Amino acid sequence: MRKKIVAGNWKMNLLHSDAIRLFSEIENQQVSEDVIRIVFPPCIYISDLIKSAKNVLVGAQNFYPKENGAYTGEVSINQLKDIGVNHVLIGHSERRMFFNETNEFLKEKVDAAIHLGMHVIFCCGESLEVRDTNNHESFVINQLNSSLYHLTSDQLKLVTIAYEPIWAIGTGRTATSQQAEEMHSHIRKSVLERYGNESADSISILYGGSCNPSNAKELFSCSNVDGGLIGGASLKADDFFSISTAY
Ligand code: PGA
Repeated sequence: MRKKIVAGNWKMNLLHSDAIRLFSEIENQQVSEDVIRIVFPPCIYISDLIKSAKNVLVGAQNFYPKENGAYTGEVSINQLKDIGVNHVLIGHSERRMFFNETNEFLKEKVDAAIHLGMHVIFCCGESLEVRDTNNHESFVINQLNSSLYHLTSDQLKLVTIAYEPIWAIGTGRTATSQQAEEMHSHIRKSVLERYGNESADSISILYGGSCNPSNAKELFSCSNVDGGLIGGASLKADDFFSISTAY
């Protein structure tokens, strides 16, 4: 059975006390055990949140794919693992756009994370320009081919894919459930072609991009949508709760 996942990407938001408060509110919410909840806080709060985590997993938004060394300002995957992190985000469009993370570099990140047995949420998604020229499906599959599909089927078990159309992120303009379902089924078909039935049936594919309490139910009812990667709405405990219970 595919895992149902609701992940909150807090991005570069919240001061320490707000983060602690929000996390404890989310921790105390009664959500079905079938739903895995993960939050990705700013890196400096991870240690504190992990200490109090019981029901909610705490992951990292970013890392540098080297074990250690002279990489001023960076945090390694080994350091994250060492403090108890088991989940990382890779390939978010903001990292691709603002920090020039290329498909090749993302492949290195994937390898570094998988090498340590980390769970990866790998983000993909097209810009409006690409969608308007009707090249969105091949664009997304190329992202997956370039950074992910070199993994073995055993390694792929550690991966969740998040489809996040860039034009829907933080814009309030959500993909329609039909657009999401079309892309998710296309992604699943690509997993089927590359890895076979078992992988295609078991990999979770999340939708991200202005997912909120009013559209989550419809999106999650699509047969190929297994949950969401939530930005803005994950900063409000009530909204995150509504989304986590929208199955
Ligand atoms: P959003 O962000 O929900 O605020 O659109 C989603 C994301 O960037 O993961």
